[in-house]
Amino acid sequence: MKKIGVAILGLGTVGGGTYKILTSKKEKFINTFGTDVTVENVLEINDARIKQLNIDQSIVTKNIAEVVSNPAVDVVVEVIGGIEPAKTFIETALKHGKTVVSANKELIAKYWHEIEAVAKANDAGFYFEASCVGGVPVIRTLTESMQGNDILSIKGIINGTTNYILTKMSDEGLEFNDVLKDAQQKGYAEADPTADVDGFDAAYKLSILSSLAFNVKVPIEKVYREGIRNISKKDIEYGKEFGYELKLLAIGKRGENGIEARVHPTFIKQSHPLASVKESFNAVFITGDNVDDIMLYGKGAGDMPTASAIVSDILYSSGVAEHYYVPFVNDKNGNGVFNKDFSCKYYIRLTVKDKSGVLAQIAGVLGDNNVSIYQVIQKESLDGKAVIVVMTHTTFETAVKKAVEQLGGLKDVVEKVNALIRVE
Ligand code: HSE
Repeated sequence: MKKIGVAILGLGTVGGGTYKILTSKKEKFINTFGTDVTVENVLEINDARIKQLNIDQSIVTKNIAEVVSNPAVDVVVEVIGGIEPAKTFIETALKHGKTVVSANKELIAKYWHEIEAVAKANDAGFYFEASCVGGVPVIRTLTESMQGNDILSIKGIINGTTNYILTKMSDEGLEFNDVLKDAQQKGYAEADPTADVDGFDAAYKLSILSSLAFNVKVPIEKVYREGIRNISKKDIEYGKEFGYELKLLAIGKRGENGIEARVHPTFIKQSHPLASVKESFNAVFITGDNVDDIMLYGKGAGDMPTASAIVSDILYSSGVAEHYYVPFVNDKNGNGVFNKDFSCKYYIRLTVKDKSGVLAQIAGVLGDNNVSIYQVIQKESLDGKAVIVVMTHTTFETAVKKAVEQLGGLKDVVEKVNALIRVE
């Protein structure tokens, strides 16, 4: 019988979930996989949490040295989150030859190479299925089930909080701030919502996922990021009239000009499978040159879904003949080739003085910047002002940004351009 000793660092939501699965499924792992998994240590400073989970005091410690020097521990699960002390604990465990399983997307997005170098030098495993999209097995899908493809693109709804907020705004016609307040009161959004609503969480995950998809390390600094704070219910409503749903999409693409990775609010066709992903659910839509399109859907957060991914890594790591390290093919300087610009269609909303010649001015600025108009609609007209929505053909981001700046400077455009939203 194979034996695996596990230490859990941090008994928060996900650590607690991991403990619950490992203890409740112990018999199943023995009977099905011939593997006896035992929690040998938990590192936690909150005694109340230990009591809540009914954990035997004999395996509890507050000292990482005790964990890494315990010969019964084979796998260390890091579910503390943040950079420190998580990074030091992980590296200490790897240096002691322990395999590490982590859910820490920020740490991996920022320090993947450093940590992997320590893992390789010590012939230790480093696995992180739980870092992206919680219980949805997207990492193993990319690394083990799609080798026969060049992955062309990956598009995902990979942050549940923002998807919950956008769903409420769309279905109930509410404004961002009202939904956020309500979500915070119900515990769906953090008191400090920055990581979610400003797109940081999704950007960390996209950095990891696009690195895996393209076998090129995509550093977090190369990921364009824009959150959902400035989205108004008006834009969601107008988008629907054009047949679109608004989502915070994470997009990774490999094209002729290199790799692009971006997180931003995006209009997608209501008929696209991602448009029907609602509430706090996540989904990842991957296109390979041979398999074509596939979509993975499920819970991207929460104690048990995330713990499900951690447990999968624990069992996986014990079954491999050699530890798996991601094969990167960055150029000789260690860099990938990244697209400096990207192109898509755009939705532009602006408020203008309602008088003759204004549309001609707008068309002129867009034309001067090579931004081709697909459709223009005048939405409202009140007190001598009109709301205009322009849909463009596919155009470059740099060109549209320049045009928008110039539009804001026209004397007949009231204030600046109200909204600029990308359309996939
Ligand atoms: N806060 C994240 C979300 C889950 O809302 O999806 C953890 O990454």
